[in-house]
Amino acid sequence: MSDSKKILVTGGAGYIGSHTAVELLETGYSVLVADNFSNSEPFILDRIRSISGKDFVFEQVDLSKQEEVKALFDKHPDVDGVIHFAASKAVGESVENPLLYYRNNLGSLVYMLESMLEKGIHSFVFSSSCTVYGQPDKLPVDEQAPIQKAESPYGNTKQICEEILSDTVNASPELKAIALRYFNPIGAHDSGLIGELPRGIPANLVPFVTQTAIGLREELKVFGDDYNTPDGSCIRDYIHVVDLAKAHVVAVDRLVNGNNKKGFEWFNLGTGNGASVLEIVKTFQEVTGEKVNYSVAPRRAGDIEQIWADTQFANDELGWKTERSLGEALSSAWKWEQNVRTELKK
Ligand code: UD1
Repeated sequence: MSDSKKILVTGGAGYIGSHTAVELLETGYSVLVADNFSNSEPFILDRIRSISGKDFVFEQVDLSKQEEVKALFDKHPDVDGVIHFAASKAVGESVENPLLYYRNNLGSLVYMLESMLEKGIHSFVFSSSCTVYGQPDKLPVDEQAPIQKAESPYGNTKQICEEILSDTVNASPELKAIALRYFNPIGAHDSGLIGELPRGIPANLVPFVTQTAIGLREELKVFGDDYNTPDGSCIRDYIHVVDLAKAHVVAVDRLVNGNNKKGFEWFNLGTGNGASVLEIVKTFQEVTGEKVNYSVAPRRAGDIEQIWADTQFANDELGWKTERSLGEALSSAWKWEQNVRTELKK
């Protein structure tokens, strides 16, 4: 089993990283978290410790700096596998500052792979995105669907990172990598102690909904009600972050135990169900009893109309499937929103 294996989690103080660190610790892995708090808060580290009842090592590292990555691996050459979350992820910001995205997202990946190969560390799990599919011709979208030209520098970094992984695995067959293509992660840990913590005005739907419900925002703008969907609003596949985190444990298990079928594999991580923006608002109101003020606004540039995952391949190959409902995801997001506002007022 995985008992004594050590996993480096980059971006482990962040949204998906913190939930994955909890799941790894609870599975019996030893964990090393690397984060620079560029988009996360230090108090999350203690929350991971209190949820899991386990300790872990933390290193503050800027992974876009080669010498810092080198120093990290020099200090911890005994890592068995890496889950690499650390990256910039705001679509709009990437359009305004593409070089920041290319430096952070591509630079860090290259430096990490170089150091890993140098130290003989051969298991790598990468955070990718369904954004690589653009608007697919066929729904649900499966892993064989063609990659489409990225809509943003952020999306482009995900595509290029997958290519870097594929090329590096070809050149160094001892390296094994899995790219996990996330659909829309939402929700929070059942404890309400960790969750999504956007800085400033949230770009993503669910944090905007919870911040509107708590009174921090006046109203949600629903970006478009004239799409070719049943209620006219866009459709996405919203996956509970705890289900997503568990998939990372399964993926890293597969690599460190040598159960992968190909050197580079990629999987969709979604529920297989689509929900529209208006359905999200309605379900949120139903499960929390809170009212969300909203109005319909023009379409947001760059949004695709609808996408949801074909989960068959991930279900069959990884033996993983989602267990939590949309309602559970939305009520956990609400629990977290209430908790974190109290924390931030302290
Ligand atoms: C985007 C990116 C995805 C990235 C994710 C996390 C694309 C196509 N997708 O997902 O790759 O991983 O962000 O940063 O680039 N909405 C509103 N009002 C709002 C906010 C959102 O109506 O205030 C709608 C959007 O139009 C969309 C849905 O809610 O239809 C989900 O939006 P969002 O949470 O931003 O995620 P994506 O755009 O799907």
